[in-house]
Amino acid sequence: MRLAVNIDHIATLRNARNEFEPDPVAAALIAEKSGAAGIVCHLREDRRHIRDMDLKRLRQAVTTKLDLEMAMTPEMQRIALQAKPDLITLVPEKREELTTEGGFNITGHYNALVEFLKPLKAAGIESSIFIEPDKNAIDLAAKANADLVELHTGSYALKTNDDDKARELVKICDAAVYAKSIGLRVVAGHGLNYLNIAPFIDIKEIEEVSIGHAIIARAVLIGLDEAVKELLRIIQ
Ligand code: PXP
Repeated sequence: MRLAVNIDHIATLRNARNEFEPDPVAAALIAEKSGAAGIVCHLREDRRHIRDMDLKRLRQAVTTKLDLEMAMTPEMQRIALQAKPDLITLVPEKREELTTEGGFNITGHYNALVEFLKPLKAAGIESSIFIEPDKNAIDLAAKANADLVELHTGSYALKTNDDDKARELVKICDAAVYAKSIGLRVVAGHGLNYLNIAPFIDIKEIEEVSIGHAIIARAVLIGLDEAVKELLRIIQ
């Protein structure tokens, strides 16, 4: 199973001071060097983390696979056609949310989706739709000519009871098997971390997981030791 690393939180930290560090492009290169199969960034309408210039620089620097998460808006379509990521992932976007909540409402936006994907496909950009593990959503993604579906693992990640977790996992597994059987490639993500990822290794249909928060949060803690020592070496 491959790992794609979402670097949005690096940009959030950079933006806290509105300066240059930490640089999301530097983070992307470290992630790639460490074995990530792809880099994911979400250009939000409010630009709260990744900004337009980050996307341009990421496109120049990323050599594995650049996945641009975005809302289905004319602005984002134009940006994607210019930036030419390897892949776009369509996500629902609400201004007030802290992170992407729920999957893309494919039933409610089917006709618009079909038109939206056409120029991207013509430009050689693959498309993925971030959906709940639901058969109808998978059917519509395939019908709309998407290349992949990303199954939302947020409900699984949030469950604290083992039985509930197991039930969510079955839904994800069934959805992955079904999506693959009708010709879609399958990835998964949201809320996955060091403790809850293990069962996904056995779901062979899921070729990649997309993880952001857990990796960046862990990087801060395991990197702090060296960062403090480095500064002490300078001042002592
Ligand atoms: N996949 C999608 C479509 C997302 O929107 C996000 C969050 O930005 C992720 C994966 C990664 O989620 P997390 O940060 O919880 O690992």
